Amino acid sequence: MKKLNYILGIIFSVFISVIALQSCTTSKAVITGKSGAQLWGENCVRCHNSPSPVDFTDEEWKTIGLHMQVRANLTKEETEKIIEFLSSAN
Ligand code: HEC
Repeated sequence: MKKLNYILGIIFSVFISVIALQSCTTSKAVITGKSGAQLWGENCVRCHNSPSPVDFTDEEWKTIGLHMQVRANLTKEETEKIIEFLSSAN
């Protein structure tokens, strides 16, 4: 019985470490993995059609980006990526 508990203990700790490691790698991928274009496509259509990069100048995108960061509840990093994408494609 003692031996069984020991084995179960090992299995349990391996299981927990795998879950802990996995959640680490997933959250990192979520933060760093998405490009500005992807974030733009996923977020800016939620309330209106995604505006085309050519619709506004770089300066205008900076202002609009900050405005929509609040509306879309995006992080500073996400907004910067979106603005960078929109400014590089107009
Ligand atoms: C939560 C809803 C919501 C999300 C998400 C959102 N917007 Fe908006 N957006 C609005 C509303 C409402 C308006 C119109 C009122 C205003 O101008 O403040 C607007 C207006 C705009 C305008 C101005 C249109 C014009 O002709 O002047 C642009 C450009 C724009 N959004 C870009 C974006 C971009 C880029 C994103 C993604 C980062 C985004 N929006 C995400 C709600 C949203």
